[in-house]
Amino acid sequence: MKDNKNNILKGSGNFTVLITGGCGFIGSHVVRRFVKQYPQYLVINVDKLTYAANPEYLRDIDREPNYRFIQADVCDHAKMEEIFRQYSIDAVIHLAAESHVDRSITDPFAFARSNVMGTLTLLQTAKTHWKKEDYHRHLFYQVSTDEVYGQLNPGEEPFRETTPYDPRSPYSASKASADHFVRAFHHTYGLPVRISNCSNNYGPCQYPEKLIPVIIHNIVNRKPLPVYGKGENIRDWLYVEDHARAIDLVFHEGRDGETYNIGGNNEWQNIELVRLLIEITDRLLDRPAGDSLPLISFVTDRPGHDLRYAIDAAKIKTELGWQQEMSFRQGLEKTVAWYLDQENLRDASAPSPKTKIV
Ligand SMILES: NC(=O)c1ccc[n+]([C@@H]2O[C@H](COP(=O)([O-])OP(=O)(O)OC[C@H]3O[C@@H](n4cnc5c(N)ncnc54)[C@H](O)[C@@H]3O)[C@@H](O)[C@H]2O)c1
Repeated sequence: MKDNKNNILKGSGNFTVLITGGCGFIGSHVVRRFVKQYPQYLVINVDKLTYAANPEYLRDIDREPNYRFIQADVCDHAKMEEIFRQYSIDAVIHLAAESHVDRSITDPFAFARSNVMGTLTLLQTAKTHWKKEDYHRHLFYQVSTDEVYGQLNPGEEPFRETTPYDPRSPYSASKASADHFVRAFHHTYGLPVRISNCSNNYGPCQYPEKLIPVIIHNIVNRKPLPVYGKGENIRDWLYVEDHARAIDLVFHEGRDGETYNIGGNNEWQNIELVRLLIEITDRLLDRPAGDSLPLISFVTDRPGHDLRYAIDAAKIKTELGWQQEMSFRQGLEKTVAWYLDQENLRDASAPSPKTKIV
């Protein structure tokens, strides 16, 4: 791959960044960061508004002069062409995707469509609109996952950027396929691209179907806490704002054609994570310590459930100087407090006097 450092983007005026999937979990943090940190950029958020999206996440910035929201499907080629033409898009940060592994098992076509065809549609649109002589001021940045690398056994070395792809769920297969198209456009047409592969994110604004928000929601409502298999699966967890900061860094300081792994060096077995969430949530709800432990309910394992993911983030640390800032305990405390503040956790039977749930 070309060793083409491209940080001309930083600080340039009249610069338009298209961020896709900005009304989702990670996208909302990335959009907010770019709108606030780079008032000289025009930030266009394109999101189809699937079940996982919530435009309310961005209510605090939706009147900023450098922000526009457009509801659109990234698979809609004519619409993407129109947006590129109308706004003279200079760079893309592509997050829009179907993201829930369980849903990919029941409906893989939806994942092939949004994740593969959506990425290809954007790549093709960028290739059509960007002139080769201007490539130094353009970038297609693909936000991907560590799940494309497959699974690890305990004791095996964490994934590196050179680890071969070995996706094992329809979700990770769709992301891997999209990443391959991104690299193919770099090799074949010279399109300036970067990819980052990140481990599991946690934090505010995640749709309550993923492990952490589900567990918090169910603790509040005294419902069973579903844990796959024996809870032995291991994930690496990173606070979402640390990921958004890493994306900012790769976007501005990374090298074209390169991949950057992003992770928290923070592996937890699911069952241990659930116990920690019980400890924090019970305390914030002013319940006795361990009150919710009996709610733990082991359920039939997810088919093909990858045992362990772990990321070696040495490259982004040494080359770009990225470090995570949020400790896991502090991040989880913030996350639980945020979910407890959410209206959708209301349950008349649950609150104790000191909860914020009304
Ligand atoms: N959540 C994680 O832990 C994690 C980790 C690494 C990488 N990623 C990647 O980061 C990206 C964002 O993940 P997330 O957890 O925020 O997902 P999310 O499901 O919370 O949000 C996805 C967003 O994309 C939008 N979207 C989906 N299909 C679309 C389409 N066809 N056109 C336009 N918009 C569409 C949805 O409306 C939603 O707002 C994904 O690409 C995912 O693969 C996620």
